[in-house]
Amino acid sequence: MRTIIEPFRIKAVEPIRMSTPDEREQILRSASFNLFLVHADDVVIDLLTDSGTGAMSAEQWAGVMRADESYAGARSFYRFEDRMKQITGFDHILPTHQGRASERILFELLGGPGKIVPNNAHFDTTRANIEHSGAAAINLPIPEAAEPANRHPFKGDMDINALERLIAEVGPDRIPCVMLTVTNNSGGGQPVSLANIRAARAVCDRRRLPLFLDACRFAENAWFIKTREPGQQNRPVAEIAREMFDLADGATISAKKDGLVNIGGVLLLREPDLLRRAGELLILTEGYVTYGGLSGRDLEAMAQGFEEVLHEDYLHYRIRSTAYLGERLLEAGIQIVEPPGGHAIYVDAKAFCPHIPPAQFPGQAVVCGLYREGGIRSCEIGSVMFGGAGHEAPKMELVRLAIPRRVYTQSHIDYVAEVFIALKAKARALRGLRIVEEPPALRHFTAKFEEF
Ligand code: F0G
Repeated sequence: MRTIIEPFRIKAVEPIRMSTPDEREQILRSASFNLFLVHADDVVIDLLTDSGTGAMSAEQWAGVMRADESYAGARSFYRFEDRMKQITGFDHILPTHQGRASERILFELLGGPGKIVPNNAHFDTTRANIEHSGAAAINLPIPEAAEPANRHPFKGDMDINALERLIAEVGPDRIPCVMLTVTNNSGGGQPVSLANIRAARAVCDRRRLPLFLDACRFAENAWFIKTREPGQQNRPVAEIAREMFDLADGATISAKKDGLVNIGGVLLLREPDLLRRAGELLILTEGYVTYGGLSGRDLEAMAQGFEEVLHEDYLHYRIRSTAYLGERLLEAGIQIVEPPGGHAIYVDAKAFCPHIPPAQFPGQAVVCGLYREGGIRSCEIGSVMFGGAGHEAPKMELVRLAIPRRVYTQSHIDYVAEVFIALKAKARALRGLRIVEEPPALRHFTAKFEEF
């Protein structure tokens, strides 16, 4: 059959409150044109993030009831630990409350002034945690990654020559680790090929550097490898995922993505001394090593979620349904980052409103337009998120439509496409913005704007 149906039935529903354009105009103004400051009840379709917004399965909810809430050595921890060992092959599994907690611990240990951490593309919290330690975060994407219409199948790949040049230039002593973000969230949700992970591994071996994965969306990345990389088609996706982890010395994971849970994270390390010190920091600020800031029910939900995310029916539907939105927008002449990403569609805001210069945040103008037009909440990934004092201007101005896992149906997605197409007809009327208030780091969460 051509129609890829949602491979689940719906057992519990949440109402969506409809709103009028006039109401939304008021709401947008009182939120100072920052959608992070809008109440979720005032949103019709919430595509702000795919993080922690997924729907849990009946089995996950059953796990919530079965969970063991013992402080130390809870049965739920061992279930979670077994599952993660099986998926990743790591001997030690540290739970954390979310991805950035893993990042904070890792860079407290590896970061510091003078250090440099290369990545295909750091996500905002990773970059902020590295910089918070005094180190510098460097992005080394392949050049194709900056061309929205380029359909390279692995636009998340790292530029391996650029990595070698960087190591030669600054010396391996200043580089505490090399990172690869799978999939690449800041650059279009694009996958990293197995060949590229192997090539990064080879450089790290030669230079005696550890390789870390930011593995938030490891299952989606593994699915892309299975479906796009020559020679990988006949391997189970779980085996591909396992090879990805086998190539790494450690990983930070936000379970709020491919863990299919609303909260949770993981830190994986092999090196015994690093592992010991990470465990000490975990106890200091997160919680004991068998719960890491989570409850037993969260650990149960993760144990189950990490297994379900590797079901191939699920991944087939997941990647196909994201691509469906991308194809509808492309057909309507809306330039997206091609090919469609795994967890989100990224619209090229420079192309959508060429009359707004990057300094006036074209992405944010589109974000506001989508909210006014149809109550859709999306997220700017451009000069608002990555610009500001001391940062180079980003190459692309994007609007991310992140798709929560197992939450919206095809008719919701058809509505999103319809709203976007209606906005396109009015694109010339979109107005740029200026920031009137901003915090020193991660400004997109709380900045306030005015329209020109
Ligand atoms: N790394 C990547 C690639 C991410 O996408 C995120 C979160 C994190 C790390 C941090 O994880 O939120 O659990 O602390 N991304 C979310 C997003 C927030 O909307 O893309 P966290």
